[in-house]
Amino acid sequence: MNRQENSTYTVFLETYGCQMNVYDTSAMHGILDRDGFRRTADLTEADVILLNTCSVREHAEHRVMSRVGELRNRLAKHTDRRVIIGICGCMAERLGEELIANGSKVDLAVGVDQYDLLPSMLFQLLNGIDRQKSAAVGHRSDVHYVAPPEAYPQNNSHLVTIHKGCDYRCTYCIVPETRGPQREKSPDVILSEIQRVVASGGEEITLLGQNVTAYHWEGTLNFAGLLRQAARLDGIKRIRFLTGHPRDMTDELLHTIAAESKVCPALHVPLQSGSDRILRRMKRLHDRDEYLTMVQKAKTWIPEVTFSSDFIVGFPGESERDFRDTLEVLRTVEYDQVFSFKYSERPGTPAARLADDVPLVEKKHRLAKLMAVQQEVWFKIASAQIGQSWRGIVEDRARRPENAWRMRTANNRKVLLQNADVAVGDEVEARIVGFEHSTFKGEPLTNSR
Ligand code: SAH
Ligand code: SF4
Ligand code: F3S
Repeated sequence: MNRQENSTYTVFLETYGCQMNVYDTSAMHGILDRDGFRRTADLTEADVILLNTCSVREHAEHRVMSRVGELRNRLAKHTDRRVIIGICGCMAERLGEELIANGSKVDLAVGVDQYDLLPSMLFQLLNGIDRQKSAAVGHRSDVHYVAPPEAYPQNNSHLVTIHKGCDYRCTYCIVPETRGPQREKSPDVILSEIQRVVASGGEEITLLGQNVTAYHWEGTLNFAGLLRQAARLDGIKRIRFLTGHPRDMTDELLHTIAAESKVCPALHVPLQSGSDRILRRMKRLHDRDEYLTMVQKAKTWIPEVTFSSDFIVGFPGESERDFRDTLEVLRTVEYDQVFSFKYSERPGTPAARLADDVPLVEKKHRLAKLMAVQQEVWFKIASAQIGQSWRGIVEDRARRPENAWRMRTANNRKVLLQNADVAVGDEVEARIVGFEHSTFKGEPLTNSR
């Protein structure tokens, strides 16, 4: 590598999309750091700007392209230096060479399995004679990134990616293309990564993957087994995970979550639609009753369990009646939180062959309706919590009011502690006295520092 001694370049990293990208950004940070690149939070002093991007909806891609234009304009006002702009992540994987084609404002495209090449590609661009633009894409099984735990604030959930890619083929989804097939990180690597988190002062981890619940290692270890092994490690206090596929929420897994006190009872299990007809067209591999049965078991077996989900409205062929089925599930399950999206056709996916026949105005209407129903549901759930006492961990200071702190419970509820004598990391018991939107207000009762 033609690294020049004493020459440090500065890199500005910006992240879009899901938690996998958040993790990968810290992995990139680690890779670049080893080669002498210094990370900066100040755009104007950056030699290199890398955008870690998302392709899941068309809108996400448009945002990034307009961001590139905006960055070029801003840089032109501030500096004569030539600043490298690179696109990493799912867009780079999907579009590759297209991103650096003639006339493009992008210098570099690096796909999700190629980040170890970043330093050499950047040195080439920064010092190389020809300063060629370049792209590196394609999936590899041999690379698993390990993000340095120092990148996280103490006591916030450290992300630990346990696998890459996805072997499901939901018909609307671009992820199997951008992230490739499912490839597992070995349990040894995962467990030692968690130990490093503990060694750097962290107490909480989030096991991360597109379908963590489908984790399997050499036919001997499944996700429930991995949870049990992680829970056995000294020093780790709370284990969260993201995302679960309803199909893999087996009885064994639900029992494990119930039995392991360190495993947090907050289940993010996207349903996407409450209509069997649409679930079939989406190839979600389960029906509505199977989902509701799983939810019922979880409610019975796991104390304090809470649920969250993703929904897509306006999938091709979704009728008013299908949509009403979705609203009904919202009322039945009583989710703490739902993330809802208008269907966005992605090139090359199986659903792109179906007519995108729900008009945009109808999609918008359904989205608004879904959010209104969820708000009603949440109001009911939240009102019923007033007067209860909850334990949680103080995560940080609230922006306002003064002397207020933010605490999170194991089942992922946010509580604002006002006028509290607490510090980050404290385990506090608080009485719930009210709520505003998704945040409860609490009065501290005890504090075990
Ligand atoms: N692996 C996870 C999440 C995948 S992406 C899962 O299986 O649930 C996150 C969310 O984006 C999805 O749950 C889905 O609700 C939404 N999404 C994915 N593709 C989409 C598309 N083409 N249009 C609209 N929303 C989409
Ligand atoms: Fe996409 Fe389905 Fe895989 Fe989730 S499970 S990443 S929605 S294909
Ligand atoms: Fe987006 Fe890629 Fe994640 S498409 S949702 S950043 S896996």
